[in-house]
Amino acid sequence: MTTSTHWHSTASVADRFDAYDDLPERLMGYPAVFRALGIGTPDVRTVLDYGCGPGKVAARIADACLAGVVAADVSPRMLEIARAHRPHPRIDYRQIDSGKLTFLADDSIDAAMSCYVFINVGELPLLHEIAAEIHRVLRPGARYAVLDTNPDTTGIRFSTFRSGEPGRGYACGERRRVLLDQPDGGEPLELVDHHWPRQTYLDVLTDAGFVDLIVEEPLLTDPSALPDTAPAETIHPPFLIVTGAKQ
Ligand SMILES: C[S@@+](CC[C@H](N)C(=O)[O-])C[C@H]1O[C@@H](n2cnc3c(N)ncnc32)[C@H](O)[C@@H]1O
Repeated sequence: MTTSTHWHSTASVADRFDAYDDLPERLMGYPAVFRALGIGTPDVRTVLDYGCGPGKVAARIADACLAGVVAADVSPRMLEIARAHRPHPRIDYRQIDSGKLTFLADDSIDAAMSCYVFINVGELPLLHEIAAEIHRVLRPGARYAVLDTNPDTTGIRFSTFRSGEPGRGYACGERRRVLLDQPDGGEPLELVDHHWPRQTYLDVLTDAGFVDLIVEEPLLTDPSALPDTAPAETIHPPFLIVTGAKQ
């Protein structure tokens, strides 16, 4: 295992991530994020999807409510896929340059999320910069949600993915191999992400000025929703969701 995943330069990684069927995320992860952010309520009229990738989550936000969605990413290939596969009149796909959301004014967004972004960032100072920039664009009272694979369930084989090696512990920031299933039983997509303990999420959000932090680790309540006979998702929480509010 050498470097982190190259979302920017490797077209096939972006395309194969797009092909990944994110069923556990759809069942348990994104609905919890949407609830935590109040998506669908009248107060949430603009949503930021930071690190939108191929636009799967942004499209679901647009389907779930009438809000305008700003979907931003650093990867030109991801944005190309998103614009081609998931165009929507209420989604504004934007390129992030130099880590700044220059196209968004201070206090202009009602809710923000970063799904699978922190684990793709290998430098702690960059996590702090991302959280600070998102804090800048949120209006007071708005919430920010971070969803990642759960650092306390590494090595567990979930229905569609495994993050880290079975039985192995990881240090803060350490690289971790991830396997994402591909359609029709094709070779899994192998990615390299970074291990951040839950305290890192709490520290990064607190340092950016977020308050009222809430940690959620949803479990699957209906095992028949997944194809496995005994899905690990009923016992081990696959996701960690940390949310906080701008004061
Ligand atoms: C695993 S994909 C997740 C995409 C989407 N959020 C989802 O859940 O389907 C991670 C995305 O984070 C983006 N990313 C990585 N580092 C980033 C950064 N520093 N700022 C913004 N986006 C970043 C990558 O380009 C990639 O599109």
